[in-house]
Amino acid sequence: MCGIVGYIGYRDAYPILIKGLHRLEYRGYDSAGVALINEKNELNVYKAKGKVADLERAVESKDVSGHIGIAHTRWATHGEPSEVNAHPHYSQSGDLAIIHNGIIENYAIIKQSLLEAGYTFKSETDTEVLVQLIDYIKTSNGTDLQTSVQLALNQVIGAYAIAVLDRTQPDTIIAARKGSPLVIGIGEGEYFLASDATPIVEYTDKVVYVGEEEIVCLQRNKELRIKTISNVEKTPVIKKLEMTLSQLEKGGYPHFMLKEIFEQPTTLATSMKGRVNVDNNNVTLAGFIDNKEKFLRAKRIIITACGTSWHAGQIGMYAIEEFARIPVEVEYSSEFRYRKPVITEDDIVIAISQSGETADTLAAIELAKSQGAFIFGICNVVGASIPRAAHSGCYTHVGPEIGVASTKAFTAQVTVLIMLALMIGKEKGTLNEEDYLRIVGELGRVPQKISELLKQNDSIAEFAKTFTYAQNFIYLGRGYNFPVALEGALKLKEISYIHAEGYPAAEMKHGPIALISHEMPVVVIAPQCGTYEKVVSNIQEIKARHGRIISIVTKGDEIVRKLSDYVIEIPETEECLVPLLAVIPLQLLAYHIAVVKGCDVDQPRNLAKSVTVE
Ligand code: G6P
Repeated sequence: MCGIVGYIGYRDAYPILIKGLHRLEYRGYDSAGVALINEKNELNVYKAKGKVADLERAVESKDVSGHIGIAHTRWATHGEPSEVNAHPHYSQSGDLAIIHNGIIENYAIIKQSLLEAGYTFKSETDTEVLVQLIDYIKTSNGTDLQTSVQLALNQVIGAYAIAVLDRTQPDTIIAARKGSPLVIGIGEGEYFLASDATPIVEYTDKVVYVGEEEIVCLQRNKELRIKTISNVEKTPVIKKLEMTLSQLEKGGYPHFMLKEIFEQPTTLATSMKGRVNVDNNNVTLAGFIDNKEKFLRAKRIIITACGTSWHAGQIGMYAIEEFARIPVEVEYSSEFRYRKPVITEDDIVIAISQSGETADTLAAIELAKSQGAFIFGICNVVGASIPRAAHSGCYTHVGPEIGVASTKAFTAQVTVLIMLALMIGKEKGTLNEEDYLRIVGELGRVPQKISELLKQNDSIAEFAKTFTYAQNFIYLGRGYNFPVALEGALKLKEISYIHAEGYPAAEMKHGPIALISHEMPVVVIAPQCGTYEKVVSNIQEIKARHGRIISIVTKGDEIVRKLSDYVIEIPETEECLVPLLAVIPLQLLAYHIAVVKGCDVDQPRNLAKSVTVE
């Protein structure tokens, strides 16, 4: 979490930094700050508790001149959100300023030795310890900034993406990373740095993704220089950015989340482009084809992910087990990485992540890799750490997802998993040709069906108003739709702060049924497939206890309609594809409830989109 941005060149740095921070605000918004070196070589550091807009207000009458600067938007780890704990932190000498995304795990030991050396600290953060350590090394060894940063990082345990300014070297930014993302943008006589490419895209399409434990030296009008913290020179690998500016704007929608919900017909079509060929009724995923033998030999597939990506993984489990007949386990990355799991060389680990940076998922990959498993990544952000750490994989290609609550990334992850399950099943012969052809054909029609479904937005907005009173919600589903219930509940919790629980419909009898009263809204996903009749019985049980039933049903269903207070119809489809449709009204329901409640939909409290701390 936390977003970092930096600029060195000939333009005014401040507007670039502020715009960059707004783009990175999805990574954290507890406080924000900026450091600039002006023409007189003075280092000005400004900070504010709250959002980037609060920082802008705080600096209104201040000197924000300078062509070099760094800035930060924070998601608090060490120390509460406050101005003093906000980044940039500066050294006691007043020469150095630092921004940091990550955690310095051994900060307490380093802090102790710095205290003994006479340093004092203003904040409770691990980051201030790092800048003081760099300062200490620089003053006691007489080394330049780059060498001092390098020596300091050799003492540090933890994760970091940092950028450091030194007013005694006003033409230099030193940046480095380990475990947290860092991208450099290369312009004409100028450099940009950021946690991801979104602050960079409007200035240049040439980027360098900084590697693990690499230090970068950015100097005006000089070549980019990279070396590792163990002093090995590296040649920068320049990549071309595929992102466009319009993908980063709201495009007339009041919130990114709504825009991203409405983008799903297009994003799913893009995810399937070149992969699902409806005319030939065929699916191809290059990441699978290149590693076909591994998939066909696999004794087990372990899916590891967090949050919404974990829910997509659950749906993937149902599909892979049904079509490919390979046992699948779905693991929370944070549990998997620490619980000494049994992993063998016959296992395939599928890591799912929108951001490609989630620290726990990255650690789960490293663990599985060290035990010989083959790693297949399903990610959205191109060039992120997880796709780079995986042996193979495929991108979901939905473009930047900015709303903190994940929507279009989820449907694309499910789509990729279904494609994968279909391909393995076909190649293994565990899925017959007729079923394969029918499902592939139907997959190609999903984007159109989502477009149809989105026409119900206004009616969902209308009845969402009824539920803003609720303190609790229950979401129920079975089979493929149990993970959809979990995802619907998560969406509501995340953005409207209403407590919501997702449950397998039949399990309700083992606990949650005690919660049901005339005040309790219960969302039931009840399409006419799989265990439909059983779900109808579950709805009867809720009705008997006067719960308020909101049902998601197949178009034309009259049975569930009669039992429900509100009904949302979804088009008929294959059972394994229902989640792609059923989740849409749940995304809209959560969105509209949050809007009516006046919540900050795109930046809900306490959350961050990219969780780079464990
Ligand atoms: C955070 C985000 C969620 C996301 C989860 C996993 O909690 O707020 O939306 O599902 O991280 O992130 P990933 O990028 O790995 O999919």
